[in-house]
Amino acid sequence: MTPPSGDAGSSNTLDNLLTESRTFPPSAEFAAEANAKPALYEQAAADREAFWAEQAEQLHWHTPFTKVLDWTDAPFAKWFLGGRINVAYNCVDRHVASGHGEQVAIHWEGEPGDTRTITYANLKDEVSKAANALASLGLVAGDRVAIYMPMVPEAIFAMLACARLGLPHSVVFAGFSAEALRSRIEDASARLVITTDGQYRRGKPAALKPAVDEAVASNPSVEHVLVVRRTESEVDWTDGRDLWWHDLVEAQSTEHTAEAFDAEHPLYILYTSGTTGKPKGILHTSGGYLTQAAYTHRNVFDLKPETDVYWCTADIGWVTGHSYIVYGPLANRATQVVYEGTPNTPHEGRHWEIVQKYGVSIYYTAPTLIRTFMKWGADIPAKYDLSSLRVLGSVGEPINPEAWMWYREHVGANRTPIVDTWWQTETGAIMISPLPGVTSTKPGSAMGPLPGIGAKVVDEAGNEVGKGGGGYLVLDQPWPSMLRGIWGDEARFRETYWSRFESQGFYFAGDGAKYDTDGAIWLLGRVDDVMNVSGHRISTTEVESALVSHPTVAEAAVVGAADPTTGQGIVAFVILRGDAVDGGDAAVQALRNHVAKEIGPIAKPRQIMVVPELPKTRSGKIMRRLLRDVAENRQVGDVTTLADSTVMNLISAGLQKGS
Ligand code: WTA
Repeated sequence: MTPPSGDAGSSNTLDNLLTESRTFPPSAEFAAEANAKPALYEQAAADREAFWAEQAEQLHWHTPFTKVLDWTDAPFAKWFLGGRINVAYNCVDRHVASGHGEQVAIHWEGEPGDTRTITYANLKDEVSKAANALASLGLVAGDRVAIYMPMVPEAIFAMLACARLGLPHSVVFAGFSAEALRSRIEDASARLVITTDGQYRRGKPAALKPAVDEAVASNPSVEHVLVVRRTESEVDWTDGRDLWWHDLVEAQSTEHTAEAFDAEHPLYILYTSGTTGKPKGILHTSGGYLTQAAYTHRNVFDLKPETDVYWCTADIGWVTGHSYIVYGPLANRATQVVYEGTPNTPHEGRHWEIVQKYGVSIYYTAPTLIRTFMKWGADIPAKYDLSSLRVLGSVGEPINPEAWMWYREHVGANRTPIVDTWWQTETGAIMISPLPGVTSTKPGSAMGPLPGIGAKVVDEAGNEVGKGGGGYLVLDQPWPSMLRGIWGDEARFRETYWSRFESQGFYFAGDGAKYDTDGAIWLLGRVDDVMNVSGHRISTTEVESALVSHPTVAEAAVVGAADPTTGQGIVAFVILRGDAVDGGDAAVQALRNHVAKEIGPIAKPRQIMVVPELPKTRSGKIMRRLLRDVAENRQVGDVTTLADSTVMNLISAGLQKGS
């Protein structure tokens, strides 16, 4: 084992992803206290269904299930048959019933600095009032509710109130446009939309309700719009349709009896983009989903409800917010931080200030943010007391070894385990991840499937590749929190996930992956992001990692651009670190050589463009499609899903100036 490098930019830190030699075994102290034990793997291997039954039994069932799994109608799974459960009861009431009503559920931190402390007893009152309010509008189990809200506590109350009444919610990220909201409301025929007047973003209030007004105008299914007051901005009002939360909900009783629903009752629909234009409404149900969300949250983050303060920095508009802010943590009686705003408002140390203020012990974020922190500089986290941290998590995209090492060193003080968690909106919960206290980790690898989960890397024909081999990631066993379909589109569900390896019955995740020589899994990005250069398969991630390992590079995005001789050529877009402003020819040549040295001459980018920003979606994913347009000298395509639609102008302007 090579000792961890003290310098995130040093060149000995990355040979390439497959020969990463650093490993970080768990400390004996952590292992002794860890929730997860090595025996979990053996237990699950010995009897998968018994293993999952045991996990499910940690929840409260109004009626116990009689059968664990029915897979006879594959790919439509049924889990925990005969069982009846209320998801909200499990996330709220049972903690009050067991004497923990005074425990803080949510330390809420508003962007302007206002705060709220919500105990489990408070949460029960708020969710009960909201449930009574929704019932008073005539909504009955099965009706759909759209939620278009920033990160205010009422968003969580609303989701839980829906769950309590058996109303499947469709949360639409509040950064999406009116048109995106409109099409989602229409697809699910929502009867109610819950929103706010506005939201705080980067220190300023921004209106939100006008987008709802626009979206609802052409959606006859919507009977009411329920509006939480957040920014006090002026709003247009449609009498009879629009209702203030503080009028309707605050007047309700705090008594509400949670009714039990079938384990397979729909819990929510969450839209995610696919390869075609129309978003897919991913459907999740109750018992299996909650079982796996809670199980993974307990074991992957080692949650100790008595002592931990947990913080997941996602937005409830994404699946990470559903499973790891709302359902998993609350089912496990976590005390958690919920933060409304952006990480650099009012300053770039905001996250570390919050960690220090609340004594956050578990912090779960995305690689794109970690790389942003790298760009801002290690001196920023160094100003705060981060000694309460004991587990760090990553999700959303492959994490570059450099970013992983930076996270470990500058946030985790070379002490905390890092869990790189692979999963998808479709999987509902974490599937591949190390277990802290059990797994020796490698920087950049998600390591292996969790106990109870079946995942493999296979070739085109569906045969598992050997150690050192690469191919497609598949899931070869049904899992409790698996999607139960695409809302209203069975054919697309079968086609997207189950047709590629139909004869084997594998779920095709759409990700490329490799086993290293020890058999650890390395995710390589979406298969459409794998380039083919002169017949060699090279991952965009591999080249990006190499670039980011150079001391002058803050962030990099790589695309394969059509090339008449090699099939594809590698084109890289890089943001240089603040103090390395020279983006001239010599610097670019040094970077090309660096990639050649790190991976091999085959991976040397054909072209490197120095840019001020990268085009990202609101969930932080780089939109390579747009960069490919630039790399191939095409008119830049649809930019409406970008977090900042002016980024492409900045990039084009910069390139014209430079050429
Ligand atoms: C990618 C987010 C590598 C992957 C929970 C997947 C990852 C897609 C990781 C799902 C990870 C997520 N390592 N890649 N740890 N986590 N991905 O639906 O390509 O927003 O298919 O779910 O993100 O994105 P989604």
